[in-house]
Amino acid sequence: MTDYKDFTKKLSRKSFIKTSGKVVGVALGASILNAFPVNEASATSNSLQYPFTLGIASGDPLPDGVVLWTRLAPDPLNGGGMSSNPFPVQWEVSVDPDFKKIVQRGTEVSKPSLGHSVHVEVNGLQPATWYYYRFKAGDEISPVGRTKTAPALDQTVDKFTFAYASCQYWKTGYFTAYQHMAKDDLDLVIHLGDYIYEGRHDSSGVRPFDKDFPEIYTIEDYRNRYALYKLDSDLQAAHANFPWLVTLDDHEIDNNWADEVPQDPDKQSKEDFLKRRAIALQAYYEHMPLRRSSFPDGIDMQLYRRLSFGNLVEFNVLDTRQYRDDQANGDGWDSPSEESMDPNRTLLGDEQERWLLNGLAASSAKWKILAQQVFFARRDYGFGPDAEHYSMDAWDGYPAARQRILDFIKSKDISNPVVLTGDVHSSWANEIRANFDDPESENVGVEFVGTSISSGGDGSDVRGNTAEILAENPHIKFFNNQRGYVRCTLTQDKWQTDYQVVPYVSKPGAPIVTRASFVVEDGKPALKKIYDNANVPV
Ligand SMILES: [Fe+2]
Repeated sequence: MTDYKDFTKKLSRKSFIKTSGKVVGVALGASILNAFPVNEASATSNSLQYPFTLGIASGDPLPDGVVLWTRLAPDPLNGGGMSSNPFPVQWEVSVDPDFKKIVQRGTEVSKPSLGHSVHVEVNGLQPATWYYYRFKAGDEISPVGRTKTAPALDQTVDKFTFAYASCQYWKTGYFTAYQHMAKDDLDLVIHLGDYIYEGRHDSSGVRPFDKDFPEIYTIEDYRNRYALYKLDSDLQAAHANFPWLVTLDDHEIDNNWADEVPQDPDKQSKEDFLKRRAIALQAYYEHMPLRRSSFPDGIDMQLYRRLSFGNLVEFNVLDTRQYRDDQANGDGWDSPSEESMDPNRTLLGDEQERWLLNGLAASSAKWKILAQQVFFARRDYGFGPDAEHYSMDAWDGYPAARQRILDFIKSKDISNPVVLTGDVHSSWANEIRANFDDPESENVGVEFVGTSISSGGDGSDVRGNTAEILAENPHIKFFNNQRGYVRCTLTQDKWQTDYQVVPYVSKPGAPIVTRASFVVEDGKPALKKIYDNANVPV
């Protein structure tokens, strides 16, 4: 595959105009919308400093199109540095990295009200095809990104490879895992949340910086925080090389928030939290390659959505934050209670839950993915037959809601459901039982929990209580406490998950190691470990 470096070299303005000027829609039958409007952007831009400091991205691929993203930010950590005027941004899509065969181009106006972010919904592209894209603002040209459209819905797809990641606390580690992910051979990247952390970033972390960044509340705060994270070149490389599918978790807004309830209702009024939620969702939209259908509306944002890749795989991207009941028992870890066991409790909200179940029943995809945030399988930390101790923030705090999904999967005989999870900063492989209360219960699916990019620091292969956890939860087949990402390779016959880990994040340059690999065969919801490298240096 092509290395990111091959197409991130900044092209001169001259070559941009020259290449774009002479090529008309010759490739793939697509047509150019209009002539390249050279002067429109240049006329207003003489003093614009290089604005593509936060990189570029693409996302939400469909068979005929994809979203292209960038944000103009010449002074990224200080509000962006753009004036209060709208600024035109030109974009081009080509089938080759040298932009000799441009198939689409246009101009989008970046607005100060959206932090001068740009979201281009390109359509009219060919399915299952790699494309290259770049932006131009004033005289400045962005790095080149690469993206891929989805296969047509009725297309038989033999193989699909994707990676997923979550939890990238900037101050606790370098994003080296992304450097390796960028060089991987992938069709798609999924982010399961905690793209930023909202709390104070002081100098106690491992990255050298001389500024103390307090907890964020205003739109300017959130923009500066995204900028801090997006300045990371490894993260930029992973964005530039693949289309991404993103959903958020808690830290994009506030730790462990639940619908309209903040983490600390004593410290923040509901009114203030709702203002913060609206601001944070806007900032999230401003920095992600999301479609217009996810444009925030006050405190609401449509993030749950379904994307298909031919007949092989369907992603149900879930939102377990905006519609959930508040955590039971005051959150944290606790034994089940009347509150947590309430049969009416919901994690997805009624509407999303119905949408998910209907979608699973209607899907003809081989693999049906629930891409979501919090631990789905039971995870009992109460050791011994009489003790039960669960995370109230995860599905264990909403057991009736989980059981409704499991009962549906079983009664409708839904084949090959696979849950992908972030949040817990460690890797796990779980078999999903039809009823976790019944030790004889059969499997109805599997869950792969991915570790963090950097949250938690260097980590370790195991934790002190790993053996007890595995003994207490026989459906949990694997645990590892290092950082990294997860790669999944899907065919019509089998699913393979590779847990990719880095031995350290406290300094740059870590190598990547496959810590373990699991296979699931079509129609058999059981985990088969095919590789285990327990000798990772720690
Ligand atoms: Fe996290």
